[in-house]
Formats: sequence, structure tokens, C-alpha cells
Amino acid sequence: MSNVPFDGPIFDGLILGAHLATLDGANGYGEIADAALGWRDGVLTFVGPRSQLPGAPDALAREVIEADGWITPGLVDCHTHLVFAGERAREFEMRLQGASYEAIARAGGGIVSTVRATREADEAELLRQSLPRARALLADGATTLEIKSGYGLDFANERKMLRVARQVGEALGITVRTTYLGAHALPPEFKDRAEDYITAVCEWLPRLHAEGLVDAVDAFCEGIGFSPAQTRRVFDAARALGLPVKLHADQLSDLGGAALAAEFDGLSADHVEYTSLDSVRTMAAHGTVAVLLPGAFHVLRETKLPPLQAFRDNGVAMAVATDCNPGTSPLLSLRQAMQLACTHFRLTPEEALRGATQHASRALGLHDRGVLRVGMRADFVHWNVGHPAELCYWLGGQLAHGIYAGGRRL
Ligand code: NIG
Ligand code: FE
Repeated sequence: MSNVPFDGPIFDGLILGAHLATLDGANGYGEIADAALGWRDGVLTFVGPRSQLPGAPDALAREVIEADGWITPGLVDCHTHLVFAGERAREFEMRLQGASYEAIARAGGGIVSTVRATREADEAELLRQSLPRARALLADGATTLEIKSGYGLDFANERKMLRVARQVGEALGITVRTTYLGAHALPPEFKDRAEDYITAVCEWLPRLHAEGLVDAVDAFCEGIGFSPAQTRRVFDAARALGLPVKLHADQLSDLGGAALAAEFDGLSADHVEYTSLDSVRTMAAHGTVAVLLPGAFHVLRETKLPPLQAFRDNGVAMAVATDCNPGTSPLLSLRQAMQLACTHFRLTPEEALRGATQHASRALGLHDRGVLRVGMRADFVHWNVGHPAELCYWLGGQLAHGIYAGGRRL
């Protein structure tokens, strides 16, 4: 008789028989066939072939699930503006009739029209309108969401947006990382006073941070947004608080935004269509992730491709995100963003999957997810597919079969 006391199952849950795309390692899907995936207390505790399990499954786990298909890490949407009120379908029509995004913005539409609607909604209403978007992203496999402010543009309304972002995470049981994007657009009350507005944005930041509402700081560095010098002021304020930065950089023109973000050891530079080779090198030197947003590229019918090969050649990690927002990317599926990254940017399906998991996690400064490995959070998706390339192949559809965050099935 053994003198080792029986102390119960070692896994809360164990899934057997599926293929894993662990993404562990620099190349390939990290495939494990006829796998076992076990977790306990929200963390992965076994990732390997079923044949290597240390005992009989029923004795090892409280719950054993037989499965087929593929399991990937939970998707990470590292760039969204999903908390907002209203929509801008009329603007979409105007663009199709020939108006440009910039012309609409300069005429008082665009971001500022969403600011009006967002200011009018109270917290409960904003949550009511935003939750279905988060639910849609979750239903297609996203277990971590970044959500930006930037449609409030005054202290109370930026605070309201960030509070609602936190509530989205609590309501759905998933991780939400909040990004303060006060420097998104110039609100009407600061017309022709951009410097004063930046001063205000920098003053609001420590107050919002003190309430635990800010995980990172972003800005829109562009002709119709803020200049590099103004962006630098916002980044200095972030740095003073020890907060990481990221940037809407080089989307419509090259203002050197990606290099500026990198100079501040930015987590990411996002959009990056017009990013120069010099900036790519600066990003590489600082480990700044390039976040590709093919939804905005698609909806704006852009033609200028990001410097994709230069990112690869210089070892700049490429993430993929939805940029879910009412103006340029009303996109409610990260898997669909992966599809668009393959068709428009010619990413391989493996690059797109890594981009929406491992590299997206890095773009949020999260190192506990994005691959299936013992010790990582038990965030994973069980897909009804015969090969992971299918995730980038189907346009639409319902492929996610089981979605787990922190070991809990959602
Ligand atoms: O990432 N470029 C700035 N921000 C968003 C657009 C927001 C909007 O148009 O409402 C973007 O594309
Ligand atoms: Fe954006």
C-alpha cells in the first residue's frame, strides 16, 4: 500500500484528443496531436501528448472532456475602441460617395461625432451599447481585450469610458486592458487650442491612473490628430507615472510616429502603413510591436501597405487587431481581422494566428498568455476546424466550440 496520501485530482479540467496549436517556439504552429491539456486554478498545468499523462485521466481531473478539432491560445485583441455610443453608418455612405475620412473629420464629423453621442450616454447606457460588441469578439475567440478611451475628451467622459471598459471585463469574465487615449481628437471646446488641450490631457492622466483606470497611454499622431511634439508631451506624462505607451502611428502619413513610440520603449506602434525603414529599425531596437489593423485598411480602402517585409527582416513582431471602432473599422471579429491580414497584407495564417495571440499579448505587456505552455493562464479556444489555417480561411461562420478564460468555460 502506498504511504502517499491521496490528495484529490491534480487538474480542475482536462481536454483529451484534440490537436493543439501551442505556438510555443519561434516557428510553426507548435502542433501536438492527440493531446492532453490540463489546468488548475486558472493556469495550464499539462500541455502535451495524451500518452505522457502521469496517470489515468479520471483519477487526474475533476472533469475530463474528449474532443477533436484544434485548440489554440485564447485570441488577444490588442487594439479596440469598442466602448462608444451610436454608430457612423451614414459616414460610411458618404465615403462611398467620394468624401475622404480626413474631409469628414475636418467638417466636424468623424471621431468628434462619436464624442457627441458618447458624452450624452450615461455609464449604464454606454455599457448597454458596448457589451454586445465585446460579446461578439468573445464569441469568435477573443479572451483578452484592450479597450481605449478617446471619445470622451474631457475628464468626466474619459473616466466614464474607462470605467465602462472595466465593467465590460467584469461582466464577461475576461481580461480587459484599458488604454487612455485622451489625445485622440481635439474637442470643440478647445478649437484652435491644441497645446492647451494636451496640457489638460496630461493633467487628467494622473487622476485617472490614481483610480486604477489606466494600463497604458496612447495618442493619435497624425495631420488630423496631434503632432509628434504634442504626442511627446503626453508620453512624458505617461513616463512620469511609469505607464507604458503605444501609438496610432503613420496611418495616413509618415510623421515618424512609430519611431517616436519606440524611443519611449513603446509597447506598440499601430496602423504603421506609412512607417519608414528607419522607423522600422528603431522599433526593432526597442522591441516595439507593429500592430496591423487590416480592418481600417479595408474599410478606408487604403492602398499603402505597411512595410511588412521590413518588419520580418528586422525581427519586428507583427500583431493583428480589430481596431473595432465606429468610423474606420466596425469589425466585430478578431478572426476576421486575421483573415483580412492574410488577404490584404499576405500574412501567412500562422503569422496571423501568432499576431492575434503571442504578439498581441506582447503589445499589451502581458507575458502570461498567448501560447499554450505550462504556467500560462488557461485562456484557450477549442475550434471546430481540421487545420488552424481554417481560422483565416472562413469569412464569418461559427468556428469556436469552447472558449475558456482562466480555466472557466464562457
Ligand atoms: O484607429 N485613427 C484614429 N482612431 C481610430 C478611428 C476612430 C474613429 O474614426 O472613430 C482608428 O482608426
Ligand atoms: Fe485605433
